[in-house]
Amino acid sequence: MTRELTLDATGLAGALSEKDLEHLAAAATRAHEKTLSLRASKSIGFLDLPDDRATAKAAMDFARALDPAIDTMVVLGIGGSSLGPRALYSALAPAFDPLRPRAPGMPRRLFFPDNVDPITFRALVDLLPPERTLWNVVTKSGGTAETAAQMLVVIDHLEKTLGARAKDHIVATTDPEKGILRATARARGWRTFDIPANVGGRFSVLTAVGILPAAVAGLDVTGLLDGARRMRDRALEPELRANPALLLASLLHHHHAQHARPMTVMMSYVDGLYDTADWFRQLWAESLGKDGHGPTPIAARGATDQHSQLQLFAEGPDDKTYLFLTAKERGGEIEIPSSELANGAPDYAYLAGRGMGELLDAELVGTIGSLRKAGRPTARLELARPSAGALGELLMLLEAATAFAGPLYGVDPYDQPGVEDAKKRAYAALGRPGFDALAKEIAAAPGPDPRWML
Ligand code: PA5
Repeated sequence: MTRELTLDATGLAGALSEKDLEHLAAAATRAHEKTLSLRASKSIGFLDLPDDRATAKAAMDFARALDPAIDTMVVLGIGGSSLGPRALYSALAPAFDPLRPRAPGMPRRLFFPDNVDPITFRALVDLLPPERTLWNVVTKSGGTAETAAQMLVVIDHLEKTLGARAKDHIVATTDPEKGILRATARARGWRTFDIPANVGGRFSVLTAVGILPAAVAGLDVTGLLDGARRMRDRALEPELRANPALLLASLLHHHHAQHARPMTVMMSYVDGLYDTADWFRQLWAESLGKDGHGPTPIAARGATDQHSQLQLFAEGPDDKTYLFLTAKERGGEIEIPSSELANGAPDYAYLAGRGMGELLDAELVGTIGSLRKAGRPTARLELARPSAGALGELLMLLEAATAFAGPLYGVDPYDQPGVEDAKKRAYAALGRPGFDALAKEIAAAPGPDPRWML
């Protein structure tokens, strides 16, 4: 079994005493047992997704059978329904893929509007030729307001431009049974893909939520699932030292609980992995931030944020842990030319003949070195290369770590009551039936205080 991802947790674990480790291992065992019992009772399904090859086949068949005139898929969704597929596309498709001119037979490009800002959404709808675009409506619950609004605008646009052919340009990804989208898709005869009932949005990247867009974009979904399965098997190991996900969850929780470091920075030194850090931000925050507990994730990009947040990281409060994402082989290099200009000045000459990736690697080593010198706890997650297999390992490691962190924090990582409350308030504000009492409560709440209106 070839592993394509290495966790180097030395900078997180190095200072732990034997007593700390014993304590960690006991809590980790309980967290692991709890998670495995939820899996055994089928209350959670994400650990079994790497074995679902039927969805991958259906998604690849769908992509193959798509009208060759369709060169674009837009994912209509928000939260886990958008961040997961976007992380896959950013990591595995060629950089700036949507800008590449499309030729017949090329994999499709993807877009993720991910919001309901009328300016960006209108611009996207107007830019994309309807006859060449497929719209994938993704929502587990079916009724999320942002996704419903996006879909209603798009359907109207498609019916006006394509008439009866509109339905060939829509696909829905949702709960197998429940929700308004499932009912709508059935009534209108749309092609559908299922999100298993026991997999929530932020754990759904390896369901059709991620797999369908990945297949349509020509990404290696089999390699992705193979990688996820490798890491899943390691995540089933009860022994702390044999289980990277359990070790990572335990160490991050230890630094929070014992050393008052509630924040975790995930800093990617591979541009294509920045969206993975963004996906992790939601996964970690929404799963663990509840009941007055929880860590705060921060996404950052190296070297960019060395010129933005690093000053705070290195010399601000010692309240953070740091996870660095990198790749041993980047899959490409740009040599900085040994030109007359470069060689003519010592302030350029040290760069001549070196690689841009080499520079980025040196920046990463420098950042980790200076943080460690300042006593800041760091870890590296290194992909052998930005391959589908390595990404599958990484995503599964982070999902399993989040699942294990739930019991360590004493929270249920699979619900999101705070998000639901905000959703309900938006429904009430818009007059959705069933939310009248909340609408009255909102109307009765005191408005802005004129003393503080400047
Ligand atoms: O992780 C979650 O459950 C959420 O972030 C959801 O993905 C998000 O709220 C969108 O929900 P839905 O997929 O039901 O539209």
